[in-house]
Amino acid sequence: MLKTAVVGVRGVGGGHFRALASHPRSELVAVADLDTAAARRLVDEQDHGSAPTVFASLDEMLDGSPGLEAVIIATPHHLHAPMSLAALEAGLHVYVEKPIAIRISDADRMVEAALQRQRVLAVGHQYRTYPGNARLKQLIEADEIGSVQRIVWQWLDTRPESYYDRDPWRSSWAHAGGGVLLNQASHDIDLLCWLFGPPAEVSATLMNRGHRHEVEDTALATVRFASGALASLQFSTWDRCLNYRQIAGDLGSIV
Ligand SMILES: NC(=O)c1ccc[n+]([C@@H]2O[C@H](COP(=O)([O-])OP(=O)(O)OC[C@H]3O[C@@H](n4cnc5c(N)ncnc54)[C@H](O)[C@@H]3O)[C@@H](O)[C@H]2O)c1
Repeated sequence: MLKTAVVGVRGVGGGHFRALASHPRSELVAVADLDTAAARRLVDEQDHGSAPTVFASLDEMLDGSPGLEAVIIATPHHLHAPMSLAALEAGLHVYVEKPIAIRISDADRMVEAALQRQRVLAVGHQYRTYPGNARLKQLIEADEIGSVQRIVWQWLDTRPESYYDRDPWRSSWAHAGGGVLLNQASHDIDLLCWLFGPPAEVSATLMNRGHRHEVEDTALATVRFASGALASLQFSTWDRCLNYRQIAGDLGSIV
C-alpha cells in the first residue's frame, strides 16, 4: 500500500481524491486545500476505516504526515512547480496536473529534482491512455501509413466568459501562465510530441479574439518535427466545437 495524498480538491482533484480513496494499492492519508471545508466535505463523503487528515496547505501536510509517499497536485498552474519541488524535496513521488509548469525553466528544475531524488514525477496527460489515441500510436508505429509527412490538428471549442469568471486564476498570465495553449491544448501538444517526436522548429501566433481576459483564447502554429513531418495546428476556446486530425504518411492517411 502506498501512502498517498491530494492537494487541491475542488475540481479535478476531487476525482483524484475518490480514485485514491478507493484504489486497492493506495492508503489515502491526507488532503490539503485552502478551502478546508470543501476538503472535509469530500472526506465525509467517503466510507473510510481511517479518514484522511485535512490540512490547509501543502507545507502543513508535509510536516504533519510522516510516512507519506506520494502526492497528487491539482492546484492552479502557477503552484505546480513550487508544490512539486517541495514534495520531491520531501522525498515524495509526484503526480502533478497539466501543464507541468508555467515556465520551461521551472519544468526543467522539477525534472532535475525528480532525477536527483530518484522519485517518479508524472504529469496529468491521461489522453495518452484513451483508446483512440493509443490506437493512433499503434498504427503509426506499425508503419501503417508509412513515414508521416504532414499533420493538420485542430482543437476548437467554446468557453463562455462565465467559465473564466467562476475561477479567475484561469484567465491571468500570473496564475494560469497562458490560455488555451496551457489549459486545453497542453493535452494536444503532449499527444503530438508523443506521436511524432520532438519538434525542431515552431512558429506561432497567439491572440485573444473574443474574451474579456488577458490570456490568449486562440493559437495557430506551424511545427517542423525533427523527423521532418510538418504540422499545422489550431487551438481555440472562441470557436464552434471541432476536434479534427488529419495525419498523412507516404503510404496513406488517417482522418
Ligand atoms: N488532466 C485533465 O484532464 C484536467 C482536467 C481539469 C483540470 N486539470 C488541471 O487540474 C488543475 C486544477 O484545475 P481545476 O479545474 O480542478 O481547478 P479548481 O480551481 O477547480 O481547483 C483548484 C483547487 O486548488 C485549491 N488551491 C488553490 N490554491 C491552493 C493552495 N495554495 N494550497 C492548497 N490548495 C489550493 C483550490 O482551493 C481548489 O480546491 C489545473 O492544473 C488544471 O489544468 C486537468
